[in-house]
Amino acid sequence: MIRSVFAVLCFLLLHIGAQAFEILPGDSLNHQEITEQAILNATVQACRSLAQTEGTSFNNPAQPFTAEGVAAACGASQSSKAFRQAITSIKLRNIRVDIRYALKPSFHFDEEEFVQGRRIITDGMVAVKADNRMGNYETAREKLGEIMHPLQDFYSHSNWVELGNTLPNSNLIKAETSIGNIADQNRATCRSCVGNDCTNNILEDIIAGQILTSGYFGLLPFVSTKPPGKCSHGGSVDQTSKIEPTGGINKDSFQSSHGHLHTQAANLAVAATSQLLEDIRLAAGDLPFLQMVGISRGSSKALCFVTDTSKSMSDDIEVVKTVTSTIINIEVGTENEPSVYILIPFNDPGFGPIIRTTDATLFKDIVNHLTTTGGGDVEEMSLSGLQLALTSAPFNSEIFLFTDAPAKDKDLKNTVIALIERTQTVVNFMITDSVVTNRRRRRNSNLLQTRAISESDAQLYRDLAQASGGQAIVVTKAELPVAAATIVQSVSSSLVTLLQASRDPGQTDSFTFIVDETVTNPTVYITGRSLTFTLTSPTGVTQQSTDSTGSLITSSETVGNFITVRLLKQVGQWAIRMVSNNPYTLRVVGESSVDFLFDFVEPSQGPFGGFDALDTRPKAGASGTLLVTLSGSDSAAVTEVALVESTKGSEETLGVVSQGSGNFLVQVDVMPTVEFVVRVKGRVQGSATDFQRQSPTNFRASNLTLTANSDSILTAGTMTSVPFTVASTRADENITIRATNSRNLDSTFPTVLLVESGNSTNGTVTLLAPLSIPSGSDVILTIVAETPDGSDTNYIVLRFSVVNLLNDFTQPACQLLSMQSGCVENCSLSAWVASVRVTDGDSGAGVERVSLIQGTGVFNTSLEAGNENVTLVSYVASCCAPVMQLLVVDRVGNVGTCQFTARVSGSAAASLSFFLCLIIMGFGQLLLSGFMK
Ligand SMILES: *[C@@H]1O[C@H](CO)[C@@H](O)[C@H](O)[C@H]1NC(C)=O
Ligand SMILES: *[C@@H]1O[C@H](CO)[C@@H](O)[C@H](O)[C@H]1NC(C)=O
Ligand SMILES: *[C@@H]1O[C@H](CO)[C@@H](O)[C@H](O)[C@H]1NC(C)=O
Ligand SMILES: *[C@@H]1O[C@H](CO)[C@@H](O)[C@H](O)[C@H]1NC(C)=O
Ligand SMILES: *[C@@H]1O[C@H](CO)[C@@H](O)[C@H](O)[C@H]1NC(C)=O
Ligand SMILES: *[C@@H]1O[C@H](CO)[C@@H](O)[C@H](O)[C@H]1NC(C)=O
Repeated sequence: MIRSVFAVLCFLLLHIGAQAFEILPGDSLNHQEITEQAILNATVQACRSLAQTEGTSFNNPAQPFTAEGVAAACGASQSSKAFRQAITSIKLRNIRVDIRYALKPSFHFDEEEFVQGRRIITDGMVAVKADNRMGNYETAREKLGEIMHPLQDFYSHSNWVELGNTLPNSNLIKAETSIGNIADQNRATCRSCVGNDCTNNILEDIIAGQILTSGYFGLLPFVSTKPPGKCSHGGSVDQTSKIEPTGGINKDSFQSSHGHLHTQAANLAVAATSQLLEDIRLAAGDLPFLQMVGISRGSSKALCFVTDTSKSMSDDIEVVKTVTSTIINIEVGTENEPSVYILIPFNDPGFGPIIRTTDATLFKDIVNHLTTTGGGDVEEMSLSGLQLALTSAPFNSEIFLFTDAPAKDKDLKNTVIALIERTQTVVNFMITDSVVTNRRRRRNSNLLQTRAISESDAQLYRDLAQASGGQAIVVTKAELPVAAATIVQSVSSSLVTLLQASRDPGQTDSFTFIVDETVTNPTVYITGRSLTFTLTSPTGVTQQSTDSTGSLITSSETVGNFITVRLLKQVGQWAIRMVSNNPYTLRVVGESSVDFLFDFVEPSQGPFGGFDALDTRPKAGASGTLLVTLSGSDSAAVTEVALVESTKGSEETLGVVSQGSGNFLVQVDVMPTVEFVVRVKGRVQGSATDFQRQSPTNFRASNLTLTANSDSILTAGTMTSVPFTVASTRADENITIRATNSRNLDSTFPTVLLVESGNSTNGTVTLLAPLSIPSGSDVILTIVAETPDGSDTNYIVLRFSVVNLLNDFTQPACQLLSMQSGCVENCSLSAWVASVRVTDGDSGAGVERVSLIQGTGVFNTSLEAGNENVTLVSYVASCCAPVMQLLVVDRVGNVGTCQFTARVSGSAAASLSFFLCLIIMGFGQLLLSGFMK
């Protein structure tokens, strides 16, 4: 677990698995494994709780829990990719703490920084809860991973276990409580170990007095900050452990100074992480919590439209309305129901506001009221609208942008590409080509020329579509309804990409793809003009595109530049030969539960090894690492990963090292210098054929590097500085900088930075979130660095959550106003009544939610007359259910519970009279006890 003490080469570390994903029996548990176990545990609890609320049954998945097993038990197998993605995202943020904050004691509960460490956790919890309230789940995940790290380290780095504790310290997730009896700064806590034996190095009076301490840590010899008599972390990297008192107390692994307590520490870390997640769940509610971990009822996909609303667009908007209705009518309640609906209108000069809802009916209603306005110009703010969509849709979504006009905000191109690459989103453009006619007619009614959107304007949309693996479909307004049929398939929860390629300029080329047993509805989408193709099936049968009577194509449709070909399902390797001199794109999709996801990661140069997720393009010409995760099958394995050059098709196959739990590390010797896609082949156990999947997204490496490291919380009303560094392996150059943020916050940044070859230059972006922005709003900052000749670009994408300063750390409280009961031994003869007042204190944010979590009685809430901050609860239950427990949550997500119990007393006669009292005057005379927790 936690800090590995092997001072070996970082890459070696990736492979020996000291901090990697390996789970070998008897091996130590690391942060990733602790985190995954806790998430699986908490997800099972959330699904069980949801089933209970809804009166449905829930069957525990088999032990040990796996992501697939848990998703299936939750009835959400189709969410398994999103679930995997959420788990990976949380884990990568967790291990980043060891890389970015290796020497900050508070992030590891080192050096007795208990108060500071707890502060990191509780401040982070406020942000996570606020993010969840606003539906900003990706931002919540990142913060959650970061705060899990110190929470888990506490059990390894402090003497909590040595003090004999067998339960987590639940006050680490509650601000303003007592963490325990923390050792005085001057108090000695350790003695030197006896040789390598550190089993008894904590002083007896520390143990006897139940005094908390933790180890000191330092990398530099002779400059220790360890006060006399204090414990060290321990291990060969920690130089403080060589100074009296020598040795250490950490329980990171079995080999650690206190390795004999590793298992207890790791198990407590799992339990503490589960507790943290449970608190987050109670604050959010079961469904939002499940969405945070990537589990949704329907598809994990969004239905996302970005649409031009200028006057000439009325036909197109009718199509948006029809498609929305179609999808909502056929998909609501099915596993293909979009998890969120997003609509972003744009014209000129405006764009937005964004509409994002999980309510299908509301969305349909809003779309149906969409009207056209303005847009006097020829150009519209399409990329601004697209940027907003890319920062609001879940990762791996598919976005449809409708327009008949060129982009006015072309300078956002690289920002949009950065967001496409970071979120692996597919962007499709639905371009209707009567624009110039209509628009010119408005301004000059004599000019009735019919012309399509110009070639160079269309090129921008083509470039963006191609970068994302989507299509730029150009059709007439009359043809649009046919082209829009593709949108229906795009929301399928199980849509997978088998092949995606493009050639610009066009050239004759052959491509292969595999249809495996799990794939249904194989479909080929092509954009391009004047092209023909020949398909060859696995059995060698061929069919030309011009041949309407063959057996391979079950249906084919061409509108504008867009061709849809549905294939006969035949398992095995297919080939398609494309013949055209014009640019074209080819995309082969199908539906299957088996898919993959991946991140670029970078081995850490720091003392603890491990790897960090990249928020940027990888380094051109250097080695690189991919973390590939399979979803949809517990028994699938990767057999081959290749980077395929997007324009030429040449490919490099890579070495794959399994890390267990469906994770694979893939080593790239030299990152390609041109655009590439990632292709994965694998095999599901027992299957006769390999499967082949591809990232739709096209990636690039860069000779520029961007790094930034800042807190991910923006305090409203306070200016936040985000320092960043640009470095280059190119000649000395003035690099252009552009920083954009998804909420248009006031921001400053240097527009040009001189970057000298082999040196780096620092810059700062400032952001100011106004007080009017609600807590939990996310801000996505994209910093783009571009060379003067435009040939190379890199970027960094950072997510922040806004927290409005509100120091409410106290949970809401319950006050029992009255309790009456006629409970007697024969409980079915009697009932009890309680009346409870719930408040959030004078300085609290106010009560948000009160729910019944135990008890079968009739439960009602109302607001106190004249005081919205007080919730009144009335409860009537049979005496056979004498316990009731309330969950009370305030508006910042502080969670409390209150329990009341009816006591048996009186006689049958009394209970009968109590019944009469209840009926006649509401409340009787009998008072019973209750207690609060
Ligand atoms: C699972 O979560 C529950 C609730 O937080 C906790 O009590 C339990 O210890 C967890 N299980 C494990 C194995 O940590
Ligand atoms: C990076 O630099 C190398 C060597 O100068 C060059 O071949 C390559 O094209 C550059 N890559 C990019 C993405 O500019
Ligand atoms: C960078 O810009 C400055 C100011 O315009 C100019 O003086 C300098 O020569 C430029 N440096 C390079 C390497 O282009
Ligand atoms: C790198 O840049 C810094 C700041 O401009 C400068 O002080 C330093 O001398 C430069 N180093 C090299 C090797 O050029
Ligand atoms: C640039 O920033 C890094 C990281 O914050 C810092 O270590 C370095 O000293 C800075 N360099 C200059 C020249 O200011
Ligand atoms: C309790 O009361 C119910 C209803 O009067 C009666 O049917 C039942 O037999 C009683 N049970 C006992 C144990 O007295």
